[in-house]
This record gives sequence, C-alpha cells and structure tokens, in this order.
Amino acid sequence: MSNQPWWRSAVVYQCYLRSFADGNGDGIGDLAGLRARIPYLASLGIDALWINPWYPSPQHDAGYDVADFRAIEPAYGDLADADALIEELHGAGIRLLLDIVPNHLSWEHTWFKQALAGDEAARARFIFRPGRGEHGDLPPNNWQSAFGGSAWTRTSEPDGEWYLHMFAPQQPDLCWENPEVIAEFESVLRFWFDRGVDGFRIDVAHGLVKAPGLPDAPPGALDSTLEPHPAWDQEGVHDIFRGWRRVADEYDPPRIFVAEAWVPDNERLARFVRPDELHTAFQFDLLTAPFRAPVMRTVIDDARQVLGQADNPSTWVLSNHDVVRHVTRYARSQPEQSLGGVLDRERWLTDEADLELGLRRARAAALVTMALPGKVYIYQGDELGLPEVEDIADHRRLDPIFERSGGADPGRDGCRVPLPWHGDQPTYGFSPDGVHDTWLPQPQGWAPLTVSAQDGVEGSTLELYRRALRLRRERFVGAPDLVWIDAPDDVLAFRRGSLECWLNTGAEPVELPPGTVLLRSDPTTDDGLLPGNTAAWIDVGEPA
Ligand code: NOJ
Ligand code: CA
Repeated sequence: MSNQPWWRSAVVYQCYLRSFADGNGDGIGDLAGLRARIPYLASLGIDALWINPWYPSPQHDAGYDVADFRAIEPAYGDLADADALIEELHGAGIRLLLDIVPNHLSWEHTWFKQALAGDEAARARFIFRPGRGEHGDLPPNNWQSAFGGSAWTRTSEPDGEWYLHMFAPQQPDLCWENPEVIAEFESVLRFWFDRGVDGFRIDVAHGLVKAPGLPDAPPGALDSTLEPHPAWDQEGVHDIFRGWRRVADEYDPPRIFVAEAWVPDNERLARFVRPDELHTAFQFDLLTAPFRAPVMRTVIDDARQVLGQADNPSTWVLSNHDVVRHVTRYARSQPEQSLGGVLDRERWLTDEADLELGLRRARAAALVTMALPGKVYIYQGDELGLPEVEDIADHRRLDPIFERSGGADPGRDGCRVPLPWHGDQPTYGFSPDGVHDTWLPQPQGWAPLTVSAQDGVEGSTLELYRRALRLRRERFVGAPDLVWIDAPDDVLAFRRGSLECWLNTGAEPVELPPGTVLLRSDPTTDDGLLPGNTAAWIDVGEPA
C-alpha cells in the first residue's frame, strides 16, 4: 500500500439511509438499522460510507430540504445514535462522509420562517427580488427550477416579492454574498467534524453563487446544466470552498470533501479540485455514457488528460440516488439508441431479457471502474445488481419531479427503493418481521437479489463485488498509471503494470492475452476468450 492519503484511492459506499435498513419497523430506514448492518458493510471491503442528508426535514425532496443542520431527523434516530454510529464505523475501519446542502434550506428552517415574517436580516440570507411587470406579478427572471417550472415563487408577505429556488419551492436558495451564510456553514462543518465525521459530499457545489444582477439565462441553458448559466458554476464558489478547505485542514487527520458539480466539461470540473480547494469531485461522464467501448474510452481519456493528472485521478461513479440504475440504463441503451433516460427519464417498462443484458453489462462496467486509477463510489444495491423499479403506482411516487412534470417524468423514486436483505417477499428483511410495506414500495420478484440469496454464492453479483474490491485493494491501488492497449472498436483494454483490464461491449467474443485471469464479470467462461458484454482482469506477468 502507498502512503498516499486514504481518499486518493478510496472506495466509498453511498448509503441512502431511508432505504438501507429499518430498525424500528416503521418502513423507513434508520440509524438503528444501519448500525446493525455494519458487519455487512465491512464484509464488502469499502473505505468509507457516504450518507445522504440525515437532518430534520419535512422531506419535500427526500431530506435535501434541511430544516436544522445540527440535529438528526427523528425518524432516523438522534445525535446519540449518530455518535454511536461514528464510533462503530471507525471501529470497523470505515470512515464516514455526510452530505451538506449549502445551496438551499428547507422553507421550514428557522431562517426562512423569520424571513417570511419580515425580519430584514433574515431576508438578506435568501434571494428575494421584486417581480417584473407593472404589478410585479412576473418572475424576476427566466430561470427554471431543476425540477420543472419557474425558479421563483411569490410571497404575500410583506411586499409580494419573489424568492429564488433552483429546486422545489420548499427549498429557498441562500444568498452566499452574505457573510452570515458563510459563517453559518463553516460552523456546521465544525459541528460534525468535532464529532468525528471524516468529510462531506457537497450538494450542488456548482450552484452557490449567482451572477451579479441575476440576468436572464440564454435559452439553450434553461434546461441543461451543461451550458453556461448565470446560476451555475460561477467564479465565486471557489472562494467559498477555499474557506472550507482551511476548516477541513485544521483537523487531524484532515477532513475531506467530494463535490457534486454538474459543469460543462472537465476543464470546469478541474477548478473544483485545485490543491487549495476540494479534494475530489464526482466525474459523472461514465454515468451518462452508453455501454460502448469507444465512448467509454473517450470519457476516461478526457478525464485523465484534463482532470485527473498526477496524483489525484478521477472519482468514478455509475449510479446514485438521482439517476436510473445502471442495470436498467444499460438494458435500455442499445448501441444505436440514445441513453434511455439518465437525466431525461421516461416512463418505461424494460423487459426481462433486456434486464439480463443490463445486469451482464453492469457487472462488466463495475470491473472497469474498479481497475481505473482514482476513487470509486458504489450506490447501495449496485452490489446486488438491483434494477430500477419502474412500475411504482402514481399515488406512491414521492419525488417532486413527478408532480412538477405533470407525471411525464417518473422521477427518481425507482432508484431509491428499500434494499432487499432476505426472504421472498416485501419487505425482504428491510423491516423487522411482521411489517409488509415500506416508504416506497418494493416490487415482487426480488427474492433472487437479496443479500442472503447472494451471500457466499459463487458468481453472484455480491460476491463479484467483494472479490473485485479485495483484488483492487491488493493489486490495483498503487499500481502504475494506465496505458491503453490497441484493441478492436468494441473493446476497451488498458494495462497498469502487469495487470490488464479488458472490456468487450460488442456481441462477438474476442481473444484475451495470455496470462492469469484474476477475475471475470461472467465467471461461466474460461477459455482464453472474452465474450460480449463482459470484462476480465488478467495478470500478464511482465508488462510488455
Ligand atoms: C442533488 C441531490 O443529489 C438531489 O437528490 C437533490 O434533489 C438536489 N441536489 C437538490 O438538493
Ligand atoms: Ca425505521
């Protein structure tokens, strides 16, 4: 093992707490449930856990509408549970990252309630503006909420001004030009760092600062985070994060950050991970790429050249709580078709045969991310091969995107369904015995995907992940940088020292180089060939 800081090669498991494990039987995941499953997490061989926002929240956006940053949502537990969790995770050798949401608060946060009550100092922490038009009844500019509709809502008190919310109306944006906002968040960071938390994932890191004067956005940027937009990726965010880095560096060991920053390209992303700013930032291009070797190679190459040079390579991620699970994405995306709804979700029912193909591809893609230089994030359920849950009844859907799109976009509930642990029907051990329903309904047919159905079973996705993570730690961490190997169009192949990773996204088998096969995403084949839609790791002895 190298003496690099831990986070430079970390494997982080994303725990969507609400759907991880329910300890008290109300159908909602909680800290008691999570604490009871620490041995499972340890058995995966991860370095850290990232937990989505666990603070008190009215849950208009699944906890990304935070009402109090210094407490725990009562449905999940309390601060004593959090302290116990931190200690137990550390005892198991697992670090803990929390999620901080600095772009907006819940409209039930004291600050916003004070602002609506007319407190001038409190109003100055948010972005209130008079409306356009003779009676001020048109929004101050043309910005759209990321969840659909205008990004402005008019208040009745005290003067009919509008407030900005780049997400739901229940999530008013903060004004980061206000020093009180800066001080408050640095204090929140310290609150959790003092309790032993190892770092934070930063929600909407590209959104905190808005262009002066709040000008209209160019039409092309209205519904895309990949075009320059006056609400996104402004220069001022970097000063804020330099301040956060100073806070993190006051601690021993230093605390770390990972940015969620949707920006147009790697040049822009690289600005977030300059040496005096954030340690890491998600590289989302593999998550939006189809399962095609040439595209994936271009993505990896561009990230390497621009972003992850030297000693701080990219942070790879295939799925999270905001996108269609990659088993289903890959099932939908035939080479000649579009991506099938990573960010533009459609209502869709993928058929069984396609899902088998999707799982085959998902297993192969996982081996690629784990062999690459850099960090890897695993979204809970990836290790079980969970697909997106597509047939959720409308009245059970909770994501505000569903409602704000008038039902056209099914929203993100399908990737947030509670994990199956054991048994053959809901709740599959997610809740204690005797409970039959969960906050989002689980589908029938998940019995083969439960943890206990896969535990210790040769060839299961769970065992593939465990083996891959062990081999990664033993062989790939600290291995030399990547060198591409010439390969046919449908094949992506690279070498790191004596180790090679081969991925075949085509239909026809290709020949593998001579050497010892360390791992195959499809363990049923073993004859020097790499079948379509699979990957393999090979030790070729001496590097060529
Ligand atoms: C990104 C989070 O991942 C997503 O779940 C949330 O809805 C938005 N930011 C707004 O906080
Ligand atoms: Ca519970």
